Amino acid sequence: MTDKQAGGDVRLSGISKTYGSFTAVHPLDLTVPEGSFFALLGASGCGKTTTLRMIAGLEDPTTGTVRLGDKDVTALPPHKRPVNTVFQSYALFPHLSIYENVAFGLRRRGVKSVKKQVDDMLELVQLGDFAQRKPHQLSGGQQQRVAVARALINHPQVLLLDEPLGALDLKLRRQMQLELKRIQTEVGITFVHVTHDQEEAMTMADTVAVMNGGRVEQLGAPAELYENPRTTFVANFLGTSNLIEAEVVQSSGGEVVVTAGGGKLRLPAGRCPDATAAGGRLLVGVRPEKISLSPAADADSVPAGRNSVTGRILDSSFIGVSTQYVVESPAGKGLEVYAQNVEHRAGLEPGAEVVLHWNPEHTFGLDAAQAIDAGVETVGERP
Ligand SMILES: Nc1ncnc2c1ncn2[C@@H]1O[C@H](COP(=O)(O)OP(=O)(O)O)[C@@H](O)[C@H]1O
Ligand SMILES: [Mg+2]
Repeated sequence: MTDKQAGGDVRLSGISKTYGSFTAVHPLDLTVPEGSFFALLGASGCGKTTTLRMIAGLEDPTTGTVRLGDKDVTALPPHKRPVNTVFQSYALFPHLSIYENVAFGLRRRGVKSVKKQVDDMLELVQLGDFAQRKPHQLSGGQQQRVAVARALINHPQVLLLDEPLGALDLKLRRQMQLELKRIQTEVGITFVHVTHDQEEAMTMADTVAVMNGGRVEQLGAPAELYENPRTTFVANFLGTSNLIEAEVVQSSGGEVVVTAGGGKLRLPAGRCPDATAAGGRLLVGVRPEKISLSPAADADSVPAGRNSVTGRILDSSFIGVSTQYVVESPAGKGLEVYAQNVEHRAGLEPGAEVVLHWNPEHTFGLDAAQAIDAGVETVGERP
């Protein structure tokens, strides 16, 4: 795009929002780097929209400040902020053509010749051929792109997107995720994207802030959050984690040894909380796709040095790319294992006695004082 404006990071300092005695957002410090694709991820009601609306100026913060670059915009009304918002309900003007919908912001500002900018914008969202249609003549995904074009034509420093793909069916949503990512890369402005869909956040964002109960639990690149969750909420909310209650028997030489379900497991000390010491308790975590499953009869062929626990298959579901097993084990009631669908494997039917084994490096430790099931039931939309 042509005239990119001088930008700057979005900086929230001590920003909070209370409604009467209810705190929707606890004092929050957050920096969104200029030009990044940033996602606020969390279950319904955790304070995502409220945070976004405070950035937009649609909601007055109870405490704290919002800065864009070196400018404090906390007291500015929405239209004075270099920020635009795309909502889930696209809020297009039904009687105006796509062209006029996109031109709207320019016309309102009294810009005389809008053609070049509107054409460029329609091309950016690949809707050049649809300029003369009305919104109701477009699909949901196309309407979504009009809403994005209409916001971007104002050259905001920051584009805020509140569950913008929520109304689309799954396949279209996947397409639009890639499409929005492409548009963001092309225009280079900061996108702050709110979603309750963890896959969507991980697909699109450079940085994800996981919110829970009005607080940011953890912030980082998708792979970093997935591989190194620091709380049980993040471990369970972002994908699936097997969390096993364990007791530390030894911590030395960069390695922690624990007992769990009658057996020993090892994990890197660097992936455990700081104060991990013998005698303490730990929640030991491993992702389902890191675990291999062998029939118990083949237990001897499990390579030495791997973590292993015994179990019995309770349930298996074939989902095409993989088979997902639920295994009952002394280490945990419903351990999950995902096996890639490379070849049919005999002896892995419900009822079969099995050994679960994995590389100790793929094991992480979490503070045992937390609820083991935090974030489990909050996946997706909640009333
Ligand atoms: N105007 C309001 N008055 C009272 N409570 C509100 C208001 N707006 C939001 N809330 C509450 O604040 C919490 C966070 O809301 P919201 O930011 O919309 O969550 P999210 O977008 O993550 O679903 C919710 O419990 C919601 O009911
Ligand atoms: Mg919301």
